Amino acid sequence: MGVTNKESGTNVNEIAAGIYRISTPVGPEVIPGGFTINQYLIVDDQSLIFHTGLRKMFPLVREAVASVIPVERLRYIAFSHVEADECGALNQWLAAAPDAVPLCGRIAASVSIEDLADRMPRAIADGEAIEIGTHSVQWFDAPHLPHAWECGFLMEKSTGTLLCGDLFTQPGAHPAPITESDILGPSEAFRGRMDYFSHSRNTRGMIERLAAANPTTLACMHGSAWWGDGAALLRMLADTLDK
Ligand SMILES: [Fe+2]
Ligand SMILES: [Fe+2]
Repeated sequence: MGVTNKESGTNVNEIAAGIYRISTPVGPEVIPGGFTINQYLIVDDQSLIFHTGLRKMFPLVREAVASVIPVERLRYIAFSHVEADECGALNQWLAAAPDAVPLCGRIAASVSIEDLADRMPRAIADGEAIEIGTHSVQWFDAPHLPHAWECGFLMEKSTGTLLCGDLFTQPGAHPAPITESDILGPSEAFRGRMDYFSHSRNTRGMIERLAAANPTTLACMHGSAWWGDGAALLRMLADTLDK
């Protein structure tokens, strides 16, 4: 564990029982101050990865997954919405893991993934849960939160981990794998610079559904994962977005 590729700095850390954060730094030439692109690997009978990473990043992420489990053990290649960092390497993962299928919301499946992916997706309905062993994941539709009609999130129930995608995006190339420090302040400062939210109407209601699941770990796609009272932090985000 730790750094799996010295050149890129790609690293792997277990942030909850059986859940591994894979993180690759992106240089300041791409985003001032640097940035990270993370994936989360849930190791179980039917192992799952949330976010594929960029297509061009696939060798690094494959190497990182292989430091934990054989990549052929993956059964679900899951993601929040259709963007390169979310699912750019989807077909490379499907080739590397012959028993895996894409796992995404119904909108993503019907609008994009049934066409883009080399194998048919398993579309997961709003509120539906899938047992993958001792872990189980529940899908929440979250259209346009923070962006993309097909957007949604997975909640891993046994560890209380919300795979929260682009929510709480923080800058910096070398954040701690997991922190209890404030991430709302840095993510809001970043949102002030990079206006990536869609300003949709039902934001508070969607955030409240996520808060009601009472996550204790927030698995962010960019920056540190976070440990604490996730419901309270999500409600603080809703308050901030209302201003
Ligand atoms: Fe995104
Ligand atoms: Fe992202």
